[in-house]
Amino acid sequence: MGLLRPRLEERTVELVAAIRARGECDYVEDFALELPTVIFLELMGLPIDELPTFLEWEKQALAPTDEGVFDPERQIGGIFSVVGYFQAEIARRRESGERGDGLLGAMLGWELDGVPAPDDALVNCCLLLFLAGLDTVAMSLSFAMHHLATHDADRRHVAGLAAAGESIDDAVEELLRFYAVPEIGRKVTQDIELGGQQLRAGDLVVFPLVSANRDEALVAGADALDLATGQPAPHLAFGAGPHRCLGSHLARIEMSVALSGWHRAIPEYALRHNTTPKAYWGNVHGIFSLPLEKFGS
Ligand code: HEM
Repeated sequence: MGLLRPRLEERTVELVAAIRARGECDYVEDFALELPTVIFLELMGLPIDELPTFLEWEKQALAPTDEGVFDPERQIGGIFSVVGYFQAEIARRRESGERGDGLLGAMLGWELDGVPAPDDALVNCCLLLFLAGLDTVAMSLSFAMHHLATHDADRRHVAGLAAAGESIDDAVEELLRFYAVPEIGRKVTQDIELGGQQLRAGDLVVFPLVSANRDEALVAGADALDLATGQPAPHLAFGAGPHRCLGSHLARIEMSVALSGWHRAIPEYALRHNTTPKAYWGNVHGIFSLPLEKFGS
């Protein structure tokens, strides 16, 4: 994942320079959604020209409508577009006899139990990376920036570290903990009582990870975030067990590069006057838009 760092840094500098020149932005639209998608294309070995198409599919598959409603038909349409794209791209590479670049190129050489991995499994794998690695990063960044735009001491702390070229990894970890965006779902396999709730085999349950991360019964002071003096506490933002996040290393690098690159160039900023960003709840919690202004150095 470290190999992607130079490209991440380059793209962060480009995006932030353009935003700084404008003097204002919608952080979600102009930065947070774009950066992970650029890196996804880079990771998979796909052309950067596909960026607008992937951003559109991401909106359809992963985001609610402007009214905050998740529209299953729109989501399935987006998912089928992604599946169709990867089916065609894998077929094209197979026919050309060239595996091509990136993770997709590597996948075409994968074997399962000594036989080539079936193309359907590879398409599923690509879809999983698309569904798991884009809005998670975009929204973790957006909640982090909302916090920093509204908490001066914490913003100054991160900007100070970035200006000194020091690591902001502890701050990233604490922000990930406090604003964990995913809600994970499970099907109950046997009757069990959990936290005073009786669950029955077959029940479908969701676990908002943020509530575990802020549980004062587990970690004293967990329901507060103080970047300037706090130490990062253990957390479940990346889940746990066999399905723990496969992309956590990349996600941490993306968060760290994005936040330090921004604060080196734009250490001072504020929420646009009289705006209250609206959040939404879903498999991944999100913010519709995050207008920032009053850039200073
Ligand atoms: C801040 C960003 C991210 C957060 C908070 C996050 C969080 C999570 C969580 C909580 C899970 C467990 C889901 C479950 O148990 O049901 C998960 C799984 C997964 N994540 Fe991430 N993720 C992030 C970024 C990424 C990225 C960048 C990638 C890849 C490019 C990625 C790939 C995956 C994959 C493939 C799984 C499924 C693993 C499995 O089922 O075995 N994630 N993620």
